[in-house]
Amino acid sequence: MTKLLVTGGCGFIGSNFVNHWLKNHPDDSVVNLDKMTYAADEKYVDESLRSKNYSFVRGDIADKDLVMSVTEGIDTVVNFAAESHVDNAINEPSAFVRSNYLGVSNLLEAARKRDLRFHQISTDEVYGSLPLDSSDKFGYDSCYNPRNPYSATKAAADLLVRAYFVTYGIRMTISNCSNNFGPHQHPEKLVPKTILNAVQNRKIPLYGDGKQVRDWIYVDDHVRGIEFILEKGKIGENYLISAESEMRNVEVVSEILRLLKKDKSLIEFVSDRPGHDVRYALDSSKLRSMGWTPRYEFQNALEETVRHYLEKFDLYSKKAVGRVR
Ligand SMILES: NC(=O)c1ccc[n+]([C@@H]2O[C@H](COP(=O)([O-])OP(=O)(O)OC[C@H]3O[C@@H](n4cnc5c(N)ncnc54)[C@H](O)[C@@H]3O)[C@@H](O)[C@H]2O)c1
Repeated sequence: MTKLLVTGGCGFIGSNFVNHWLKNHPDDSVVNLDKMTYAADEKYVDESLRSKNYSFVRGDIADKDLVMSVTEGIDTVVNFAAESHVDNAINEPSAFVRSNYLGVSNLLEAARKRDLRFHQISTDEVYGSLPLDSSDKFGYDSCYNPRNPYSATKAAADLLVRAYFVTYGIRMTISNCSNNFGPHQHPEKLVPKTILNAVQNRKIPLYGDGKQVRDWIYVDDHVRGIEFILEKGKIGENYLISAESEMRNVEVVSEILRLLKKDKSLIEFVSDRPGHDVRYALDSSKLRSMGWTPRYEFQNALEETVRHYLEKFDLYSKKAVGRVR
């Protein structure tokens, strides 16, 4: 029986992970430590799965004393907790430094002192941007080249995790995943925003010309990738998780509009985000060669996602546009 500390387990990917873990590892226990920012919702953790093996602590990973006390008796930490929205990072970077970097340093100190297995959830955005018209992908040899305060704090945290491995020998792994979509994502992000605006016949803002390419993965495939790394990953390694499914933002939005039988005239092109990365693409061959593979095709997963947001329209449409605190 493993005792897991999951941080950020009431957010988008963290809650999908908690639900998956409780369902598939009924003998393990999960402590969910979450600050409950605007992006979090306790309802995302399936009530039917909450049992004596599940507990929730409201708190901040940037609080060192709290992190030390919550990690007592824990075997493994999986860190999802982060400020995650690039637009907020541009407006208010200090909150990102605090949660995404200082918070990770506290978790690493706890991992060092308590000899914990530590897994850091990271992003493809640490590698920066690829040219639109190339077929290159980021791989293990690619240099970190973050270009906005969100990706810079995630990159800095990854480097600190690696330094703790080399210096103190902590039992760490890192996964860098591409763009996720699926249930529980805050409506500030492209896919839920498009669905919720479209059903209300509201304009859908799209940065620049909308031609930016993202490498889309259904959240369940990401969650299974993390589970795979926790079970089979080699200590000290980082793993790239991707479904290798590249699409332009305007294509994703157009497909959602088609599924909802809405007109493309709802798209409103707005001034581009400063320093907007134009293309991300990840080479996931290392993880695939070990036996992990994504289960979902983009189209089926998108249809399932649209159905989810329509069914839970009341829950998501009430969520205010995110502000960091
Ligand atoms: N969404 C993506 O496409 C994507 C892709 C790759 C990696 N990631 C990474 O995955 C992780 C989760 O992303 P997400 O999209 O689920 O984000 P999210 O914003 O939906 O969820 C983040 C969660 O962390 C919690 N949190 C934030 N700061 C905290 C703090 N200081 N202490 C404790 N809890 C805190 C929030 O309350 C929330 O529940 C992040 O580390 C992100 O960098 C996301």
